[in-house]
Amino acid sequence: KPFGSISAAWKAPSNIALIKYWGKRPNQIPQNPSLSFSLSACYTATTLSLIYSEVRKPIVVNGDENHPFMPKLTNFFNDIEINFPFLAKASISVITENSFPHSVGIASSASSFASLALCLCEIEQRLLGNEGFGSDFLQKASSVARIGSGSASRSVYGGYQVWGYLAELPNSTNDYAIPVTPSIDPKFLGLRDAVLVVSTKPKSLSSSNGHALMVDHPYAEARYAEAKLSLNALLKALKKGDLSAFINLCEQEALTLHGLIMSSRTTPMLLAPESLLMITKIREFRQQTGLPVGFTIDAGPNIHLLYLESHAPEVESFANAELKALCENGYVIFDKCGTGPERI
Ligand code: PMV
Repeated sequence: KPFGSISAAWKAPSNIALIKYWGKRPNQIPQNPSLSFSLSACYTATTLSLIYSEVRKPIVVNGDENHPFMPKLTNFFNDIEINFPFLAKASISVITENSFPHSVGIASSASSFASLALCLCEIEQRLLGNEGFGSDFLQKASSVARIGSGSASRSVYGGYQVWGYLAELPNSTNDYAIPVTPSIDPKFLGLRDAVLVVSTKPKSLSSSNGHALMVDHPYAEARYAEAKLSLNALLKALKKGDLSAFINLCEQEALTLHGLIMSSRTTPMLLAPESLLMITKIREFRQQTGLPVGFTIDAGPNIHLLYLESHAPEVESFANAELKALCENGYVIFDKCGTGPERI
């Protein structure tokens, strides 16, 4: 029935995967489960407004019908419309703002689609006269966010989260992400992530093209099996508070992602000389100081330096002295594991 106008606003964090989602089946079903933690300073704030109208007007993003986010957004609304019948009679306006610049190696699609999905699910709740933002609400928001971008399914939670079915992890599913924070050693909640921005150039390989490379990848099956083993091992390290296993698994997984990328059909190379130099320096620093510091890498040249809050003074002075000069214009984003989305 006509609902006049209704709007909702949420802020959702970006996340960085430690076990990577790389390769998918139709309907945004991942080929392997992934594990990530949510960031804190890097988030998207989205306001979704719907105005009831018999004839739907074109979608507007930040007042613009031709916003760069439009193609992804139009596909998203087409895909999910069937689950939200009220969208059929709604003119849609989206206001979205990122706390971090585009193309710095932090997925803005994860925080964008997570915040949008939370808005949409809140509006649905209110139209149905339901209240509350409990675990059912977050599960639904996660499954909706997944349709926009697989990694966005994980951004509806703070702390650590797993998306994708893993036989050994109860309640894990390909449909939505689940939080795993309660079962891990609390010291990992203070994990820091210094994003060493090697390049701000737009990604040379989009995620969709990246996932597609796995379709006829010679190592695909071995990769999917190994990702599950690594995820189990990482969960164990997180539970036990085993920092050296944690670092080892994070680095192995990051380099595996790039190994897979380089051994793909079209042999893309996303790492830059500076990325390799940073890896070498991080490993030397670890060896010299004995401090538990490591890295992960997304599908780009930027290095995410991982360390605990308690080691922040030493690690950050190392980063400023040795790594900053390798970053584009000295650009480093000091971020950390965050507490998750907020209604605004
Ligand atoms: O969610 P997508 O389709 O943008 O894919 C994300 C792929 C990686 O960032 C490389 C890994 C991940 O799990 O986030």
